[in-house]
Amino acid sequence: MSKAEKTLLNVPKIQADFPILHRKIRGKRLVYLDSAATSQKPRQVIDATTDFYMRYNANVHRAIYELGEEATREYEGAREKVAAFIHARSPNQVIFTKSTTEALNLVAYGYGLKGPIQAGDEIVGTVMEHHSNHVPWHFVRDHKGAVLKYVDIDDEGNLRMEQYDELITKRTKIVTVSMCSNVLGTINPIKEIAKRAHEAGAVCVVDAAQAAPHLPIDVQSLGADFLAFSGHKMLGPTGIGVLYGETEALEATEPLLGGGEMIREVHLGRASWNDIPYRFEGGTPNIAGAIGLGVAVDYLTDLKMEAVRAHEMEVTRYALDEIHRIPGVRTYGPEDVKQKAGVLAFTIDGVHPHDIASILDVEGICVRSGHHCAQPLMERYDLPATARASFYVYNDSDDVDVLMAGIRKVQEVFA
Ligand code: ALA
Repeated sequence: MSKAEKTLLNVPKIQADFPILHRKIRGKRLVYLDSAATSQKPRQVIDATTDFYMRYNANVHRAIYELGEEATREYEGAREKVAAFIHARSPNQVIFTKSTTEALNLVAYGYGLKGPIQAGDEIVGTVMEHHSNHVPWHFVRDHKGAVLKYVDIDDEGNLRMEQYDELITKRTKIVTVSMCSNVLGTINPIKEIAKRAHEAGAVCVVDAAQAAPHLPIDVQSLGADFLAFSGHKMLGPTGIGVLYGETEALEATEPLLGGGEMIREVHLGRASWNDIPYRFEGGTPNIAGAIGLGVAVDYLTDLKMEAVRAHEMEVTRYALDEIHRIPGVRTYGPEDVKQKAGVLAFTIDGVHPHDIASILDVEGICVRSGHHCAQPLMERYDLPATARASFYVYNDSDDVDVLMAGIRKVQEVFA
């Protein structure tokens, strides 16, 4: 994007909605470039959670008094908003969890460890997954004897799709993949991967933690059997996540948590489960979190996800162009922004990524450094760590300029 070009989002107006963006870090304007770790929250979301505690705090699905009914109405209303946001056929396919991690663990436990997966059955993942889409499947391997296989990437960080031909066999029961890499930004062809999984009679499990905040999602068109994401990366509160499931897949899944709310009947010798989705929501849920997520969904829907995506493509294109003008800086992942979300992993020759992040911090710039909870991917690149800038609706080319000036400063310090 040239500086003069008009962006598809009204960024100053959006920034005005985010109280935190008005604070200073050591006298400098806060330039928040770590939304892949967690996004900032607009006033609308903060107000909605406060409003719950201030005006109608009560437990859901239990009380018959007015407050309880109000809380239940808002909580279930949030479920409906999330279902519409991802184009689920029914709100009953939306399960509230605490995070993407919990959602993926629910599938690995309920469909893997306690579900239809048998010893020798195969689970096909990829080398680019976040740890939360690796470790739960390790449990299924270690405790049930499943066999794990991984699709590799090419040098630009795209999945080597031809490997699915070999890796998916008659024994494949689960094909799991992130919709968008949290390090490389690679956007994976979920529809194609789900189709291949289904041809083999397997289910497709999608980690959409980095996708749901940034791309329009239509679970029906994607063909995902399970799809997980987090509220806190998409303008919502922490501690609330979502597991979407195809009804048949959810029916084959055992609950992860036993307790209140998830039962139909309990006797000393036996218990039976409530309907889906309540079967998977044992215990008092994060009511304020769900309501806040519903408002975050409203906010993104008002912006329009197509515009969010188009804006991030522009900012990412500008960032890639600018960073390539600086000698001694390497980037990782696709160059084509049609294949890449707003995630920019980079290294500076001769500087440890933690030093990059520390020096940028002095300039008021927040970036993540480290292995980004994707150690197998780092091993694939033979790297201990990278720095990572990630963009969202409140970032623009001015933020990119500040980042580039910061990177030049890092190089001066280490010259
Ligand atoms: N999964 C988050 C990240 O990549 C925390 O930073």
